[in-house]
Amino acid sequence: MRKKIESKRAEIAVIGLGYIGLPTAIMFANAGFNVVGYEIREDVVKKIKNGNSHIIEPDIDDLLRKAVESGKLRATSNPEEIKEKDVYIICVQTPLREDKTPNLEYLESAVKTVAKAMKKGSLVIIESTIPPLTTLRMAEIIEKERRFKAGEDFYMVHAPERVMPGRIFKELVYNSRIFGGITKESAELAEVLYRSFVKGQTFITNSTTSEMVKLMENTFRDVNIALANEFAFLAHQYNVDIFKAIELANTHPRVKIHVPGIGVGGHCLPKDPYLLLSPAKEDFGLIKRAREINEDMPLMAKDLLFEALKTINLPPEDAIVTVLGLAYKGNSDDTRNSPAHAFIEHIKDDVKEVRSYDPYVKGTHESIMEALKGADALVIATDHSEFKELDWKTIGELMRNKVLIDGRHIIEEPPKGFVFKGIGRGEY
Ligand SMILES: NC(=O)c1ccc[n+]([C@@H]2O[C@H](COP(=O)([O-])OP(=O)(O)OC[C@H]3O[C@@H](n4cnc5c(N)ncnc54)[C@H](O)[C@@H]3O)[C@@H](O)[C@H]2O)c1
Repeated sequence: MRKKIESKRAEIAVIGLGYIGLPTAIMFANAGFNVVGYEIREDVVKKIKNGNSHIIEPDIDDLLRKAVESGKLRATSNPEEIKEKDVYIICVQTPLREDKTPNLEYLESAVKTVAKAMKKGSLVIIESTIPPLTTLRMAEIIEKERRFKAGEDFYMVHAPERVMPGRIFKELVYNSRIFGGITKESAELAEVLYRSFVKGQTFITNSTTSEMVKLMENTFRDVNIALANEFAFLAHQYNVDIFKAIELANTHPRVKIHVPGIGVGGHCLPKDPYLLLSPAKEDFGLIKRAREINEDMPLMAKDLLFEALKTINLPPEDAIVTVLGLAYKGNSDDTRNSPAHAFIEHIKDDVKEVRSYDPYVKGTHESIMEALKGADALVIATDHSEFKELDWKTIGELMRNKVLIDGRHIIEEPPKGFVFKGIGRGEY
């Protein structure tokens, strides 16, 4: 198997062609492997067959066309076409259910499809982010389906993905990678495979460690953001500008406080701490509390808005509120778990009208001017570059009342004539 991988004769099937699976399939195909991408969404398969991507990502169109035109990458919805491959790479989604418990249905179904298709000696890799101990459980599913013995009849590895949308093709090459095998040999084989295009460092460990590592990385960020948010909450009570305080604290050589704001969104950070905790019998409560703090941040923005409306004696039910930015992060169109949506949900029944404008997101107002005409309050929920260069004089003339809430610290000096409040900005 090692020789087959080294000589790129190993046949690869990638299961799930989303944000992670499609770029991964493209990378292996362009590295010289024969790759079949198996995806249950037929509309996605159809697009890829025509050399078109269904996800937006720099360079993806050219790289996909190259992979498809060279004949190295094929997409299919037919499980017959992934029979007896050497390597299976599973990249399906692992979301949370309503009650915040992991929904591993997609993963289990993908593992069963792989179990039916694989042969003795196949290497099965899970790239999806999964709760600790899941790789071992998935190996048991394969053992049951096929009467294969894990580690003897097949290799199995968790190889977590650490890329950031918008930088996927760079990070796939230059990020360091961790391969957590159910046996050392499994991890070593995966390492050789990924070395075909990875230039970052590679490490091998066991599968439960790699599952924890991936989840700890995102939980570290989430808990640190929650700490910054708690500092912001305290700063309001002490009339301190938290951003000035953080800047000063971060001059300490061993302190690096994160950035507070209206909330944490995206695909990974809001769910991974729950995946980390899910199999645990007990925990200390810190991670869950941090998650709750971050989930409550849109409520803090609501409080600031209502306080500001009170100072101009405008009852919320008479207020027209414009939210600037629906994406969860600046200069992106990604609205998954965006705190802007949570904020809108929290205020929509209490105010007269909510409008939104986001230059990257469809379905919002066409122009910022249109969204602000006659509005009473403007709430910044995303740090898009465009919002850092606003003409406050013109905006002030358009609005009926001039309330400005900054949820992302993009305003350094509050513009003249506005009632200004910002998360962590103390009294103004
Ligand atoms: N998107 C990111 O930025 C990112 C970063 C790091 C890790 N991850 C992790 O990677 C995993 C995949 O995330 P994603 O963003 O690519 O998800 P996605 O929803 O974009 O893609 C998953 C794809 O798998 C397909 N699928 C589901 N079940 C299937 C099955 N049984 N057989 C074949 N196809 C199936 C879906 O139709 C979908 O197209 C998740 O666990 C996620 O947490 C994502």
